[in-house]
Amino acid sequence: MNVWRKLSGPRRAVALAGASALVAGGLVTIPVTAAHAATQCDVSYTTNDWQGGFTANITIRNIGDPLTSWSLGFTFPDANQRVTQGWSARWSQSGRNVTAQNESYNGSLARGASTTIGFNGSWSGSNPRPTSFTINGVTCNGGTPPTTAPPTTSPPTSTPPTTAPPPTTAPPPTTTPPPAGAKVDNPYLNARGYVNPEWKVKAESVSGGNRVSNTPTGVWLDRIAAINGTADSQSNGPMGLRDHLDEALRQNAQYIQVVIYNLPGRDCSALASNGELKADELPRYKAEYIDPIAAIQADAKYRNLRIINIIEIDSLPNLVTNTTGNAGGTVMCDTVKANGAYVQGVGYALAKLGAISNVYNYIDAGHHGWLGWDTNFGPSAGVLREAAGASGSTVANVHGFIVNTANYSALREPYAKVTDSVNGQTVRQSKWIDWNYYNDELSFAQAFRQELINRGFDRNIGMLIDTSRNGWGGSARPTAAGPTTSVDAYIDGGRVDRRIHKGNWCNQAGAGLGERPKAAPEAGIDAYVWIKPPGESDGSSREIPNNDGKGFDRMCDPTYTGNARNGNNRSGALADAPISGAWFPAQFAELMRNAYPPLS
Ligand code: BGC
Repeated sequence: MNVWRKLSGPRRAVALAGASALVAGGLVTIPVTAAHAATQCDVSYTTNDWQGGFTANITIRNIGDPLTSWSLGFTFPDANQRVTQGWSARWSQSGRNVTAQNESYNGSLARGASTTIGFNGSWSGSNPRPTSFTINGVTCNGGTPPTTAPPTTSPPTSTPPTTAPPPTTAPPPTTTPPPAGAKVDNPYLNARGYVNPEWKVKAESVSGGNRVSNTPTGVWLDRIAAINGTADSQSNGPMGLRDHLDEALRQNAQYIQVVIYNLPGRDCSALASNGELKADELPRYKAEYIDPIAAIQADAKYRNLRIINIIEIDSLPNLVTNTTGNAGGTVMCDTVKANGAYVQGVGYALAKLGAISNVYNYIDAGHHGWLGWDTNFGPSAGVLREAAGASGSTVANVHGFIVNTANYSALREPYAKVTDSVNGQTVRQSKWIDWNYYNDELSFAQAFRQELINRGFDRNIGMLIDTSRNGWGGSARPTAAGPTTSVDAYIDGGRVDRRIHKGNWCNQAGAGLGERPKAAPEAGIDAYVWIKPPGESDGSSREIPNNDGKGFDRMCDPTYTGNARNGNNRSGALADAPISGAWFPAQFAELMRNAYPPLS
């Protein structure tokens, strides 16, 4: 796999205007159901609206382990919605986020018990209901149902203050807990991830590797043979998809991450991760690759495991940035654009896999150093939207998107913001930023999420950021911004991402392990994840004959002096690398040395 950006000049501002159709207010009952193994909840939210104001009654039912205290959280969809006066809980609001903490007398909720709280609020424009609720940080919308049926909701135990308009008599919630495996809002939240034993063995073969070897990493199905396991490939071991899923059950894992990576004409703009299927082999992709994967993932025995599919790294944005007319456009990208292999292939994967109730699809969405210019940003979101509607799929099959997969872009640049200026000049004109609108992955991921929602994806989509190799720690990490003598001195002196050029993508020297996987770390981000297994090569540094279809890409050769797509810079790649996917212990040792946060 590989990625680079297209060369760019100054661009117009990216349109990030808010979107989304809002549901009208009124009496609504939202049966929001259960969450997670231990904490499970069912929330009904009803309102009685009048012009500019409303009363909300909320019944919280505990359908998980007994609670001694609780904190209800939800987000108003509209910025003008406010809680003005609440009862039966301690209410607070920050921006759109509302929190209600139990009073001393209603904190204890046995399994099956419920309590009703409420508030008076104000609105203008419209009064849409919140779309999800959390109890003690756990989303109330899915998970394993309790083994004993919860009792019917008890009537509200509190009454609103007399100043409040009369509350609506809400019908008791009719919801029942979701079937096993129903989708939750964030499959990573409070969930334990699957540790790939094949990667763990490799990680522990390098001194100090045991410090990170229990980290969940992606299971890459990078060829048809990987579905059943293939001992002779360099990137997969004998474990096939079923073996991994069975092992996940044995580990009591709650989620597993599977990388779907075998499109016809794969990696159309590079050579290092070319695959087995030719550009015209879409029928084989469907019948021999996606169908068997879907059959295995749909096995009822895995219904309580959240299966997270990472869909086709680097594929769709290539149709925007690496076709003819772009610097370095390739014939293969033209071909797979013209014959629909990528769009139809991704649509087919989404439709087949998304139909399974415990499967979560996240489509790859490039990274900021590739799509952060507005010529690439909006059009790439457009192609993603097109694919989500292809081959019978709908946007409902898309749970979210992932950025920075197998790339090295820093999560945050603490000393170099894209909005900074030096001596009156914007740092966007520095060589490093080169007029990009973003300078790190977090800000890009959040903005791209909004663009995707604007283009018709669900407002609840979440983003993932692959932080496996974007740590940039070690002794060379800057601790302050650079000197203000010029935009370049300022940016180059202070940036933590120390690549020679943002377009460099292969086995980058100086990189380190990034943030360890973490659920819900920032607004709009479902998780930081390790999808590229650290220590597996991005491509060979010289030609190595192989039976895996892998080519030799000069971007993996440390002596290469570059091309138009990386500004004719050196590749920054480590020497002596094996083919993509093969174990590269020297790289793993360096990634540990330069980890950020550092390893103890
Ligand atoms: C390779 C795959 C490999 C994956 C994970 C990709 O670059 O092409 O074969 O499974 O990386 O290391």
